[in-house]
Amino acid sequence: MSKRILSGMQPTSQLHLGNYLGALKNWVKFQEEPGTTCLYMVADLHAVTVPYETGELSKATREIAAAFIAAGINPQKSFIFVQSAVPAHSQLMWMLSTMAQLGKLQRMTQFKDKAGKNTERVGLGLFAYPVLMAADILVYKATHVPVGEDQKQHLELSRDLAATFNTRYGVEFFPQPEPVITGPAPRVMSLRNGNEKMSKSAESDMTRINLTDDADMIAQKIRKAKTDPDPLPEKLEDLANRPEALNLVTIYAALSGETREQVLKKFAGQQFSVFKPAFVDVAVEKLAPITRRMKELMDDPSQIDKILAKGNEKANEEAAPIVREAMKIMGFYS
Ligand code: TYM
Repeated sequence: MSKRILSGMQPTSQLHLGNYLGALKNWVKFQEEPGTTCLYMVADLHAVTVPYETGELSKATREIAAAFIAAGINPQKSFIFVQSAVPAHSQLMWMLSTMAQLGKLQRMTQFKDKAGKNTERVGLGLFAYPVLMAADILVYKATHVPVGEDQKQHLELSRDLAATFNTRYGVEFFPQPEPVITGPAPRVMSLRNGNEKMSKSAESDMTRINLTDDADMIAQKIRKAKTDPDPLPEKLEDLANRPEALNLVTIYAALSGETREQVLKKFAGQQFSVFKPAFVDVAVEKLAPITRRMKELMDDPSQIDKILAKGNEKANEEAAPIVREAMKIMGFYS
């Protein structure tokens, strides 16, 4: 069977290095595989499960599409689309929600993190978030889903729901989507705490490098990144108990295309006062062209809108018959 790739990103504020290295950068190579269909989505329905600015949502949606293109997603080879423009996602989500067990949803760590102590008052959408994600994937019968490590548990639920549907209705309809959690940095950590994930929701902007940060901002954030007093070691295993140092070496390697071992070979015995300026150079060199291209695209949104219109059309064409078929299997009147 030919590969069908689906992945997505939420238009909640700006994209950061974690999104880029953990996901986006890895999406690009699938486009080069012959016979593979690639669908990359701006997950705006997911973005409204937490408080957001109505006036910002459509701009943020375009900005994510611009980031996809700037990072190397080629709209001639891949389809870039907006989740809310494809009603089939929400339709299939409802059907899958009848099969999703509350107990499993309650165990989702992202839900627990986002809901905090407030579980009685959070919206149903936040709770049902992983079911919508399953629908996003299954509605295209996607076979592979490239994501960062933090999405692993959600993908297990998608696999589970695919199997439940097939068993309950005695069909082999949905394939088991394969999580693709690869690349040199599947879990990029905060610049201020090596035990916390780099995330959009962290309060301080100094914890992350955004794709829209300019060279000065990148330099400032890296200069202030938390480290420890020791020089860099020769061996990777000697970074095991130095989370901040390990994170910086991992990011450097992911950006430069070297292995972490190669990076350590270059900097073994050196202090962070030597490593950090080299880090800034690599980060600026790799990110500046993406930032520039994003800005160019955002200066002419009509180009993005054209790309999204084509992607939305294709996504609807792919998803609508699959939902119709799922409804038929479930016995709905047609
Ligand atoms: P989102 O928007 O939070 O993140 C987008 C992608 O970036 C990855 N990521 C990271 N990778 C490495 N290190 C980090 N610190 C880091 N932070 C984020 C995420 O793993 C993700 O791959 N629910 C999804 C969006 C979504 C989706 C889908 C993904 C909606 N439907 C269907 C795949 C398939 C999300 O919130 O990603």
